[in-house]
Amino acid sequence: MPPGLDHSLNILKAAGEESRLRLLLLLRAGELTVSELTQVLGQSQPRVSRHLKILSDAGLVERYREGAWVFYRLADHTQDWATIAPMVEALAACDDRTLVRDAERLGQVHIARAQVAAAYFEDNAAEWDELRKLHLPEEDIEKAMLQLAGDGPVEHFIDLGTGTGRMLEVFADFYEHGVGYDLSREMLAIARANLEKASLSSARLRQGDLFSLHGEEGQADFVCMHLVLHFLGDPGRAVREAARLLKPGGRLLIVDFAPHELEFLREKHAHRRLGFSDEEVTSWMKQADLRMTDGTTLAPNIRAKKGEDKLAVKLWLCTKGKSGAKKK
Ligand SMILES: C[S@@+](CC[C@H](N)C(=O)[O-])C[C@H]1O[C@@H](n2cnc3c(N)ncnc32)[C@H](O)[C@@H]1O
Repeated sequence: MPPGLDHSLNILKAAGEESRLRLLLLLRAGELTVSELTQVLGQSQPRVSRHLKILSDAGLVERYREGAWVFYRLADHTQDWATIAPMVEALAACDDRTLVRDAERLGQVHIARAQVAAAYFEDNAAEWDELRKLHLPEEDIEKAMLQLAGDGPVEHFIDLGTGTGRMLEVFADFYEHGVGYDLSREMLAIARANLEKASLSSARLRQGDLFSLHGEEGQADFVCMHLVLHFLGDPGRAVREAARLLKPGGRLLIVDFAPHELEFLREKHAHRRLGFSDEEVTSWMKQADLRMTDGTTLAPNIRAKKGEDKLAVKLWLCTKGKSGAKKK
């Protein structure tokens, strides 16, 4: 049912203010923390928080706390958002000076964020194969992944955020041609050595940003993202990008943490998100025209030392609809 008069007025009042319109435009590009929004707007945190509360009360944005960080994102699945979406979209295309400056500052925030993760992988590339095992029952996860993937071989397999190429090795018998993409040259150098050592000639490695891969659209039978999403600024968009690479009927396997409270993983290991709920992953899949087909949860590592045993791992397997991905 369309919103009534009072409700429409509330939505328009909430959006009808310069800072709040700027916030809506910024969030259109993906979820952001309050401190990132504060940097871009150049206003105090209490002031930005007040604007965000008004937008949130009007049902235009959603707030969620994860550990010490608070994230905001557009409530773009709602009728309330649909009411003002065309105006925000039109604004996004205009060259107003304030909005252009906001876009530039947002670009700087994205770069700074990516640099944190890049520096982490540059520093830890040589140790990554050991670090990955720290809190996780690696063997159990890999076994569960192969089980979910089922019988192979598939023709074209893509591993996004391949790091040291571990998934290309684990799935070696499952594909005819494999490609691993990663941003980090340091990680790829280790991956190259690992694949050579394993005499794995069916796999290639490419440097590339998973948010802007070209030439592979609609080519993959199977895409894998193993422990990648929690490093990314916009995991939902990453899922849509992965879906874009799949053939109709192709499958995407995501492996990541269940929601947890290990804040130190942010400071020490460059994590951005503290795990993901089934609801969140399912909503990204829906937006990408992916249908959840299977999944499992692996309980925290019973072999981990005291204080480390809190990370459950989720595996989500989904299939791309025959019509292709709807949203970019
Ligand atoms: C935690 S490692 C996981 C590596 C591998 N999947 C594994 O399980 O061993 C995450 C990897 O994602 C890569 N990465 C992060 N952002 C990326 C992006 N935008 N595009 C491609 N790779 C990215 C990092 O360089 C890093 O190698």
